[in-house]
Amino acid sequence: MKQKVIDKMPAKLDFIQSATGLVLALFMWGHMFFVSTILLGKDVMYQVTIFFEGYYFFGESYPIIVSILAGAVFFIFIAHAAVAIRKFPSNYKQYTIMKNHIHTFNHGDTKLWFWQIFTGFAMFFLGSVHLYIIMTNAADIGPYASADRIVSDWMWPLYILLLLAVELHGSIGLYRLCVKWGWFEGKDAKASRIKLRRAKYAVTIFFLTLGFLTLAAYIKIGIEHKDHAGERYQMVQSVSQGVKI
Ligand code: HEM
Repeated sequence: MKQKVIDKMPAKLDFIQSATGLVLALFMWGHMFFVSTILLGKDVMYQVTIFFEGYYFFGESYPIIVSILAGAVFFIFIAHAAVAIRKFPSNYKQYTIMKNHIHTFNHGDTKLWFWQIFTGFAMFFLGSVHLYIIMTNAADIGPYASADRIVSDWMWPLYILLLLAVELHGSIGLYRLCVKWGWFEGKDAKASRIKLRRAKYAVTIFFLTLGFLTLAAYIKIGIEHKDHAGERYQMVQSVSQGVKI
């Protein structure tokens, strides 16, 4: 008897999509906390910066470490986009079918799926610009260098859009992962889905608030520092001796 061959590729692609999405979403939570240390003061953000450059391990700063990290994140980002693209509507007919379906069905999770496609598409461009700039200019991160990039180098419009896209995309993505793989399902799947949806809104509002406060702090510093754009931050204490300033 002829055996039926089961193609496991769709399941593998789904798994890669989930795994890379999870890594990126968790990375973004960490990223938002590190970037937002500017709210605690320039010295704190400076110390976080040199920590990632290996200063506390090697006694000297190596921005190449940040370039390598950014390169690794870029790779995962591209892998995630490459497998996710197969879920996008591929022509106008498919797009109108999807739109009509969303209107007539009026189902919350289906609408979330549309937003995920929309924000994911935007991030192809916005995320790539940011990652490439950080990867190739890793030595230019710091309280003044970052603020100058945001104000004097006009990155703030991109960051506003990227922040909106990444926070919506990340929290919807994590919610969908939980629903898809049955994480936190408990005994009553319906009740836990309502709780998950509330948690999703709370996470989105938390990170958007944190993100916009952070952006406002960099913009304020960038405006104050505009006439000295390009000059680096210097910590008064001894930690700045011998490291990049
Ligand atoms: C290792 C990889 C990454 C590094 C080292 C990094 C570093 C930074 C730094 C230093 C800033 C402050 C502004 C600046 O200096 O230009 C920033 C801001 C930002 N990054 Fe990243 N980033 C990375 C990956 C990502 C990814 C993958 C995304 C999303 C796709 C992202 C989204 C953002 C957003 C939205 C802001 C503005 C945050 C805010 O204003 O609160 N970053 N990033």
